[in-house]
Amino acid sequence: MEQTTDLKKVKTYVIDQFKHDSTGHDAEHMKRVAFWSRELALKENVDPFLCEISGWLHDVGDPKLYQNPQTALKERDHLLEDLSLSPSQIKTITNAIETVSFSKGKRPDTKVGEILQDADRLDAIGAIGIARTFAFGGARNQAIYKDGEGTDHSIGHFHGKLLKLASLMNTGSGRAEAVRRHEFMLQFLEEFRREQLTTSEKRRVPNDKE
Ligand code: ADP
Ligand code: NI
Repeated sequence: MEQTTDLKKVKTYVIDQFKHDSTGHDAEHMKRVAFWSRELALKENVDPFLCEISGWLHDVGDPKLYQNPQTALKERDHLLEDLSLSPSQIKTITNAIETVSFSKGKRPDTKVGEILQDADRLDAIGAIGIARTFAFGGARNQAIYKDGEGTDHSIGHFHGKLLKLASLMNTGSGRAEAVRRHEFMLQFLEEFRREQLTTSEKRRVPNDKE
């Protein structure tokens, strides 16, 4: 009962925090990461409650999304203290969140951290990952694609990061879903290349039989 009430409070708080995001970190991203955190936890025999709370809260206070990250983190910590959690459970959640990001360079050192990282990575790949990449790129004034010019465009981000994620998954169940999503990204990139090539190399559009 307490857990249901806790989850409701967290969900309401997070949906309100991210309701205006247009960088791919909207409330639906938080909902999906919370869902997959719980799902993977159940499959991997890890505490689904702690994983789901971590999933909901994982982007609160992220410096790239907040003007004042420290204030957001303090508010998040007050929220956590207001729930039915023990200090050690709170530590597990905040520690998992600290180690979720690829760019911060820290590695998860608990099962909850590994699961949260897998859930967040799943949302960066596959059809949803593709949509989020172009949303993020657009929000940062980044081009969709630049022919022969470095990787500072959204298609470049697939090669710089997204195609590496499936092989970096921590859990077997996360990896199984990641493989499917990885394949879909490869198909998308192949089709993008086919459509783009015809302009950059002034070739005919190849048809299916070629
Ligand atoms: P999160 O904030 O959820 O931990 P990231 O910050 O790594 O994860 O990425 C958030 C989303 O933005 C992902 O879908 C990712 O692919 C996308 N993204 C991050 N950097 C870029 C970039 N340079 N170009 C396009 N998309 C990006
Ligand atoms: Ni995220």
